[in-house]
Amino acid sequence: MKRALVTGVSGQDGAYLSKFLLEKGYRVYGTYRRLSTPNFWRLQHLGVFEKINLISCDLIDENSITEALRISRPNEVYNLAAQSFVGASFEQPTGTGMVTGLGVTRVLEAVRQFDTGIRVYQASTSELYGTGGRSKQNEGTPFYPASPYAAAKLYGHHMARIYRDAYGIFACNGILFNHESPLRGLEFVTRKISNGVAKIALGIEKNLSLGNLDAKRDWGYAPEYVRSMWLMLQQKMPDDYVIATGESHSVREFVSEAFNVAGLDWKKHVKVDRKFMRPLEVNLLRGDSRKAGKKLGWKPNVKFRELVRIMVENDMSLWRRWMDGEHFPWDAPSYPSEANILSRNLRV
Ligand code: NAP
Ligand code: GDD
Repeated sequence: MKRALVTGVSGQDGAYLSKFLLEKGYRVYGTYRRLSTPNFWRLQHLGVFEKINLISCDLIDENSITEALRISRPNEVYNLAAQSFVGASFEQPTGTGMVTGLGVTRVLEAVRQFDTGIRVYQASTSELYGTGGRSKQNEGTPFYPASPYAAAKLYGHHMARIYRDAYGIFACNGILFNHESPLRGLEFVTRKISNGVAKIALGIEKNLSLGNLDAKRDWGYAPEYVRSMWLMLQQKMPDDYVIATGESHSVREFVSEAFNVAGLDWKKHVKVDRKFMRPLEVNLLRGDSRKAGKKLGWKPNVKFRELVRIMVENDMSLWRRWMDGEHFPWDAPSYPSEANILSRNLRV
């Protein structure tokens, strides 16, 4: 039986990937951080919580990474753990560097010392392209990161390549464009919108405050994207791949489509608040995943409109059940209104 270690198992991708690997017959080990309130709702939601071997580990603590490798003795490591929110990286630039950047080196170095035969997937990102993009971005497009998060990820990206070239470690960078789902964190714009629309449609709230509506993203469906991570580690040779839908839509289009699903006019409910604007913005991301199509046989099926519908209908259905008195593991009811969270950007 193959063994996989997934760092960041409590996150969106960690949850879907664990489910995928369990279905493939893997023994799955997942690392989680010690928090004051445990955060396993996604694993519970997917019905896989009991099937995963959980190991406490923090990417700033190298001993905990070595210990996770010793306990799990994995064939494959999927390094998904990160401070993954671009907005927060402007507020915590050093912390983001320590986790999202140096954390990668800690994982790679632990693998080098423990067993160089372990295959490593590094969660790289389309954010690396930053402000440079105009046409479709592929593996040859230059990187020009535009946030502390992206700079940290770029460092991690290069370290994975360096460990591959220097030590022969089978390390792959998955340059994944934005991928969303009902399990997306509530601070990311797509889920913020789908949850906001659901609450407005059900009369729980009246308005939704957002930042830059002009930014364009290439949004795909997370359950399909985790399959590409696994495919990368099954190849003969390690390599880096862009994973994307090839379509780009603005935040405004996402908003309009999401309110449409609920039969509402977005212009009556959406407000723009500078608080949600970033000091530096990535205006356009649109990926060219032809290499992944050719070499991995990967292609996306769920496109923009279906993705929006899936997310809005899911949030509406969960809020209805919740209001009917049903209680289940879920993030939305305990998430505060972002209006109460102060932003440093207000001072710029
Ligand atoms: P996510 O939902 O934010 O999950 C991040 C995970 O990292 C969580 O399990 C989190 O644990 C964990 N984590 C945070 N800080 C940590 C630390 N110091 N030590 C150990 N674990 C830590 O992110 P995601 O959307 O699943 O993304 C997975 C990875 O892919 C991330 O590296 C992200 O940057 C990258 N990525 C995501 C996308 C996307 O569109 N989703 C696109 C490209 C790349 P807690 O639950 O305790 O917070
Ligand atoms: N979060 C948020 N909240 N974003 C907003 C808002 C808002 O109220 N209003 C507008 N936006 C805009 C952001 O400025 C950005 O241009 C876009 O919506 C998407 O923001 P996020 O959903 O926070 O995602 P992201 O693109 O910055 O980063 C995500 O995708 C990357 C891959 O390109 C994250 O998952 C990263 O971890 C990932 O690497």
